[in-house]
Amino acid sequence: MIVQPLNQKQIPDVIALMGLGEPYITPRTYSDYWLYATLFSSTCPLAVIDDELAGAVIGFRSQDDPDELYVQDVMTHPSYRRKGVVRELLNDVLSRAKAMDCRRVYLTSEPSNHVAHKTWTTLGFTNVPGDDIVDGVSVITDFKGPGKTRAVYEFRLRPDSHA
Ligand SMILES: CC(C)(COP(=O)(O)OP(=O)(O)OC[C@H]1O[C@@H](n2cnc3c(N)ncnc32)[C@H](O)[C@@H]1OP(=O)(O)O)[C@@H](O)C(=O)NCCC(=O)NCCS
Repeated sequence: MIVQPLNQKQIPDVIALMGLGEPYITPRTYSDYWLYATLFSSTCPLAVIDDELAGAVIGFRSQDDPDELYVQDVMTHPSYRRKGVVRELLNDVLSRAKAMDCRRVYLTSEPSNHVAHKTWTTLGFTNVPGDDIVDGVSVITDFKGPGKTRAVYEFRLRPDSHA
């Protein structure tokens, strides 16, 4: 498995890959991926196996709070699941975040996405306590806007302050 930063040439393949992620992932537009490949490639690693795009993670270090790195999309091709693809990709993002001295990496998923919950918790992320429990998962109501209740997960890289 080769892990490499998102490159503009790979955008059509990433869009095709994300198209296989329903109902939890849907592809964004070409110009969104152009932005990711041009401004955020180091936190958007792709996994390539036998010249095929096996997985992708799209992440961004916050400009408003540089202590935080948010992971927006996580996707493994159905043919390559349970082979450690996302383990490698998220480890790559965690290494980048650590190198940038971020405090935490966080992501969200829908509470019904049990495979995602199992994956995040297996890889060391913790389910952030919220204001409700849905399907046994703690959620934050309207986290992403009205009606967009999400389970939030975080991986802490260092304590809140450097003190
Ligand atoms: C969730 C998803 C990204 C996991 O990717 P993956 O590359 O298959 O994950 P990995 O092989 O790295 O798995 C890491 C660990 O997570 C857990 N895990 C992953 N898939 C699992 C499943 N289907 N059932 C139970 N545990 C699972 C396992 O503990 C696994 O370690 P193990 O195989 O050594 O036991 C993948 O299933 C996917 O792309 N799903 C559709 C898109 C999606 O829902 N993305 C998240 C939305 S935010």
